[in-house]
Amino acid sequence: ALPRDLFAPGRPNSAGLDLSNDQQLATIAAALRESVAVAWSARPSPGSDAPAQAVRNPADRRDLVGYVVEATSTQVDAALSLAHDAAASWAATSPDHRADCLMRAADLLEVRMPSLLGLIMREAGKSLPNAVAEVREAVDFLRYYAEQGRGLHAPDCAPLGVVTCISPWNFPLAIFTGQVAAALAAGNCVLAKPAEETPLIAAQAVALLHEAGVPLGVLQILPGQGAVGAQLVADARTRGVVFTGSTDVAKLIQSVLAKRLNPDGAPVPLIAETGGQNALVVDSSALTEQVVADVLVSAFDSAGQRCSALRVLCVQEEVAGRTLAMLRGALRELSIGNPDRLSVDIGPVITPEAQAGITAHIDRMRGAGFAVHHMPLPADCAEGSFVPPTIIEISDLAALTREVFGPVLHVLRYPRDGLDKLLTEINATGFALTFGLHTRIDETVARVISQARAGNIYVNRNLIGAVVGVQPFGGHGLSGTGPKAGGPLYLRRLLSKLPAEAGF
Ligand code: SER
Repeated sequence: ALPRDLFAPGRPNSAGLDLSNDQQLATIAAALRESVAVAWSARPSPGSDAPAQAVRNPADRRDLVGYVVEATSTQVDAALSLAHDAAASWAATSPDHRADCLMRAADLLEVRMPSLLGLIMREAGKSLPNAVAEVREAVDFLRYYAEQGRGLHAPDCAPLGVVTCISPWNFPLAIFTGQVAAALAAGNCVLAKPAEETPLIAAQAVALLHEAGVPLGVLQILPGQGAVGAQLVADARTRGVVFTGSTDVAKLIQSVLAKRLNPDGAPVPLIAETGGQNALVVDSSALTEQVVADVLVSAFDSAGQRCSALRVLCVQEEVAGRTLAMLRGALRELSIGNPDRLSVDIGPVITPEAQAGITAHIDRMRGAGFAVHHMPLPADCAEGSFVPPTIIEISDLAALTREVFGPVLHVLRYPRDGLDKLLTEINATGFALTFGLHTRIDETVARVISQARAGNIYVNRNLIGAVVGVQPFGGHGLSGTGPKAGGPLYLRRLLSKLPAEAGF
């Protein structure tokens, strides 16, 4: 049978919290205070007596969030054996049983949301609304993949076996949980390697999935540096890899997987979601106020640390001056600082190294003669890794040689008759993740959409926050392999035998 509710019409997404409700806000504030007193920790599932390392808050390095014990190569090997041995019995469970475990985990996550928000905010430097969105998206992934998995009955379908999931720090709960939930729903055992910057929230997600009924050997967490992921990927017991991160690492993983085959003689599947050089094209018919509101969210929400974030705003030159003037004014209204002040819009970037890299880019662009606009940082940003939201006027897309993963928006003017050339240049970057268009001319919408290559195209709105089951998310080219996360094809890539129905 096909998975139910393929495009999920009417399927409810997680409601999250109402941040305009004073009572709810008071509950959250109390939970945040309590979470500061908790000794959060992450350690490899097989157990470990290796020394623990401190995990610090990127908004204020004096704030010790918890401790992580990184997996040794012996532990990685032991985890692979345990998962390998558990694979047959997990594959033999009914799809409904697996789905029920994920549904229970989703319910637990919703109930525990207030206590986890503080951890997300302190470990990843997220603002309160972003932290709430994290939990909602994780809940949505659990429920969506659970429902998708219900139709995957043996012998029509067969899982891959052991799947390695390598997740990023920018969505330390949502993407971590999404990868794991999909692999589990498809009947695979999972070895989850969270980003080295954010192991604590990942450890909470794993504990919750265990509590919801997923056996210990079926889901194991292996915190650590890149070497942990490298060992997992290279090991023949890994029969599939799900990765979100940089394009370079995705290429490396693919080259390692290309050296071997799975026992059925098939290539080892890789789902990779990577970066973008995401553009928003604005013509002279667009509503400037709406453009400015959508640009601020697209470029600066989450301090620009989303793969979907807007990197280059392309404005038709007739309206560029007006748009830039309004944008620069709006920039001054953003509040940047430690998200423990709950009204903060923009928190820190993830590490001092990230801060240095983004700052070096801004300095280089200024040195190359491009106009740079930003506000000075408030004084209370001194203890964290902050970068002020920055606008850089560029004259050519060629000035952008790599993705700058932070709150930096490049603005490019294009001439009235330059739209086709511009679209060709945007496509020629090789990235194809998100793309936006603001126009009030229907023919322009049709024409631009037919030429744009990106995986997710947004018209007259912002570029971020794809909703699970509603807006499947992912790109192609340098931006990833697909299938799209939160979409109906995702679980298919995590099977070694697909149901016979055509089209899937
Ligand atoms: N899924 C996220 C978004 O749409 C990006 O990673 O913003």
